[in-house]
Amino acid sequence: MESKKILVVGAGSGIGRSLLEKLNAIPEYFPIGISRRGRPLEESFEKGKNYYCDLGDPNQIVKFSKELLERWNKIDAIYFASGDGLFLKIEDLEWEDLQKHLALNLSAPILLTSKLLPALGKGSLLCYISSTAGKQGFPESSPYCASKHGLAGFAKAIREEVKGRGIRVTTVYAGAIDTPIWDGREGFKREDMIPSNDAAIFLESLYSQPATLNQDEILLLPPKGIL
Ligand SMILES: NC(=O)c1ccc[n+]([C@@H]2O[C@H](COP(=O)([O-])OP(=O)(O)OC[C@H]3O[C@@H](n4cnc5c(N)ncnc54)[C@H](OP(=O)(O)O)[C@@H]3O)[C@@H](O)[C@H]2O)c1
Repeated sequence: MESKKILVVGAGSGIGRSLLEKLNAIPEYFPIGISRRGRPLEESFEKGKNYYCDLGDPNQIVKFSKELLERWNKIDAIYFASGDGLFLKIEDLEWEDLQKHLALNLSAPILLTSKLLPALGKGSLLCYISSTAGKQGFPESSPYCASKHGLAGFAKAIREEVKGRGIRVTTVYAGAIDTPIWDGREGFKREDMIPSNDAAIFLESLYSQPATLNQDEILLLPPKGIL
């Protein structure tokens, strides 16, 4: 049987990197990643490797999508695990920082979905990593909350758009997962967070469960809840 082609968007570190490693350990899967620290594209993809694409640049997204579709005629799952944080008082916001943040956290997954959707078929999965900040508000996080609410809203609409094709769409409202996104943020205990390898185990299971069911929205928290 042909191996399952899986794209992990944002596989340079954190959740995406752990997920790419987890998927790559499963013989039936052929996963690849993309992020800024990926390697240049080759004639054909190598299983488990992370390839270069700066998702802040729409031209690179369009180019990568085209090159991916030249190598893969179908995609079985896409996990959207790229993004950054923009944590500050709203009075301190700079326009340029806001544009970069929204481009990465919101516009990039939207554009990628638009370009890659033709290669998804019955039983495939689109998984968007939103956040507890995509469900409720947190102080000094307003651009991040806006981007994560936006991503969840986009997923709701796409779910309606593709349900007739048997494509599963899952939004994960993730609580604290121990990754570099928390570096430099005071007042949070890393030991209370979900280890990123454990988050990867959960995320992989979203694809491997029967394609006859769709877990549409999931709140994924560490046992201590919202930290
Ligand atoms: N950790 C948590 O507690 C948590 C909770 C809820 C939601 N999330 C969400 O999960 C996602 C992943 O975050 P993380 O926690 O794993 O943090 P992370 O380790 O900082 O991961 C960010 C990922 O995005 C990629 N990335 C950043 N800028 C990029 C760009 N311009 N182009 C391409 N890729 C880019 C990074 O790879 P490169 O550096 O190689 O580009 C990396 O793979 C984010 O959307 C975050 O909001 C995280």
